[in-house]
Amino acid sequence: MDILTVNNMGISFDSRTKKNEKVKILQDINISIKEGEIVALVGESGCGKTTLGKAMVGIHKPTAGTICYKGKDIHTMDKKEFMDYRLGVQMVHQDSFAALNPNRTIFQSLSLPLLHNKIAKNKKDAEKILSEYFTEVGLTPPEQFLYKYPHQLSGGQRQRILLARALSVKPKVIVADEPVSMVDVSLRIALIDLMTRMNQKYHISFVYITHDLATARYVAKDGRLAVMYLGKIVEMNNIREAIDNPKHPYFQALIAAVPSHIGLGKSEMKDLPLRSLDMPSVNNPPSGCSFHTRCPYYKEICENESPQLREYKGGMIACHYAEEVG
Ligand SMILES: Nc1ncnc2c1ncn2[C@@H]1O[C@H](COP(=O)(O)OP(=O)(O)OP(=O)(O)O)[C@@H](O)[C@H]1O
Ligand code: SF4
Ligand SMILES: [Mg+2]
Repeated sequence: MDILTVNNMGISFDSRTKKNEKVKILQDINISIKEGEIVALVGESGCGKTTLGKAMVGIHKPTAGTICYKGKDIHTMDKKEFMDYRLGVQMVHQDSFAALNPNRTIFQSLSLPLLHNKIAKNKKDAEKILSEYFTEVGLTPPEQFLYKYPHQLSGGQRQRILLARALSVKPKVIVADEPVSMVDVSLRIALIDLMTRMNQKYHISFVYITHDLATARYVAKDGRLAVMYLGKIVEMNNIREAIDNPKHPYFQALIAAVPSHIGLGKSEMKDLPLRSLDMPSVNNPPSGCSFHTRCPYYKEICENESPQLREYKGGMIACHYAEEVG
């Protein structure tokens, strides 16, 4: 069953450079997250991954389309349904320092949603619940971490705290935005393994945002991959098929650029000679298919018509010439 669905969603922001102008950051986003599945969302810096993640948890409001939780549009829900959604879809932010109030102890920050939503009866109960999750994420003994301030902890410890915070409200979906990018390399695998364990133990769906394909494949080994380019999803498939047989020309080029020693399965892709190495800005994407300025398979229609994400060979691809290039 789909727990969270994003339908034809677009997001525009006020332009940072031109007064009274909007810039479209996301366009025509369609993606469903099933109960208990892991979806890795990949794409280069600035393509809109965080914006999509924040829209999924309700931080950004769509300017077009809808987001539905358990089949209901989150922006037309009644108060009770909305509270259920707010608890049900949690985000683990990339910057763990910014995500925690520096003037509050970890306990003060994390107990608030538990008390406010009556998940904990009182402070003692909140301490008991948080201690259990701290133990689960490897922060032991819990009392050594609960009464510290964020700056007194390491990046890896703060990242675990964010995961414990998300878990403590018993969510259905966790959107994890580059959760290990600020953590020491030696700790990354442990944190990723922890998330996959939480996925199996609590049947929580994960949207795992990253620009690193190797990590995406490791996290979502039995799940799906969605590839973004300049504010749109251009390819989606189960992760093994997606990486072994990339179909969209952009993703083919991305896979071909991964050094062979990283070993992305059988993806021995030949280099794709791009028409241009310049990455256009998401604030001003090219017309039609936004990859047309770089795509080696470009034809005139690509410049004029935006290809919709459509089914192709068991996955989804947004390319007019999928049958020829994929
Ligand atoms: N509040 C905002 N107002 C205006 N523009 C914004 C806002 N937030 C993000 N942007 C712009 O939207 C685009 C997409 O940003 P986003 O953070 O979603 O990308 P990303 O794929 O997460 O990148 P990264 O991999 O670097 O984290 C960027 O060009 C960014 O400058
Ligand atoms: S629609 Fe055209 S430009 Fe876009 S990826 Fe396909 S072939 Fe290339
Ligand atoms: Mg980001």
